Amino acid sequence: MSGLEHSSVIVTGAAAGIGRAAALRFAAEGARVVVADLNAEGAEAVVAEITGSGGTAVAAVGDLSEQAVVDRVTVTAVESFGGIDVLVNNAGIMDAMTAAADVTDEEWERVLRINLTAPFLLSRAVLPHLLERGKGAIVNTASEAALRGSAAGTAYTVSKHGIVGLTKSLAIMYRDSGIRTNAIAPGATMTAIATQLPREGHGPSALGPYLGNFGRISDPTEQAEVIVFLASDAASNLNGVILPVDNGWSA
Ligand code: NAI
Repeated sequence: MSGLEHSSVIVTGAAAGIGRAAALRFAAEGARVVVADLNAEGAEAVVAEITGSGGTAVAAVGDLSEQAVVDRVTVTAVESFGGIDVLVNNAGIMDAMTAAADVTDEEWERVLRINLTAPFLLSRAVLPHLLERGKGAIVNTASEAALRGSAAGTAYTVSKHGIVGLTKSLAIMYRDSGIRTNAIAPGATMTAIATQLPREGHGPSALGPYLGNFGRISDPTEQAEVIVFLASDAASNLNGVILPVDNGWSA
């Protein structure tokens, strides 16, 4: 048993890509899902997809780098589903793959704010509710760019290394409270973000060499499967793990 049936799950960035696949996969486990995203239309479409197949979901729309939106998402989960069991910090952006000397202040602030500060703000807001349950899971979406330097850009790489720090810090600080925090580190995955990866060149994120080495890129459902596993009771002894999901790309 996954232990996820009737659980209350927040998935950020759930209107598209990996987050959408995770929201659908949680719903298939019988979880009730808060579909949190900037994209209102996309979020409502995912809610309709879940409710249309007999599941339970609600949308929470807004920019998750704003504290007021984070508070609204948290309240939506608590008021709709009576508490919170799982938080999936998945929303993220990959900007212009800019190297350090060319990163503007605006780009640095924006990428760090959405990719790293927002997951911290959400974790801080949700933790009291997990503590109230005496049990819970946080799953963060890092990246192959969390494991080494990456052509994905300096701000993006720094933000994803920060996610590793957040994951490990939460893991040790809350391990005696029944709360587990883990992360996936996806390799190139076929979503809107992947279309920004360079087709040529030799950086570790370049799509061309990746395909040459490993034959295919991941499907969002393959990432979703591991997110749901990490949130489930099947992963009860995993805490602080950064799990590459990349067909051996980072091996
Ligand atoms: P995507 O672009 O398909 O989905 C990202 C979602 O996040 C979108 O629905 C977008 O509206 C939402 N979002 C962006 N900024 C937001 C904000 N400020 N507030 C609320 N929602 C916001 O991309 P994908 O690939 O599904 O990305 C999900 C996560 O996976 C990201 O954290 C990304 O960094 C990570 N990742 C993706 C890889 C890939 O190759 N696709 C590889 C490694 C990591």
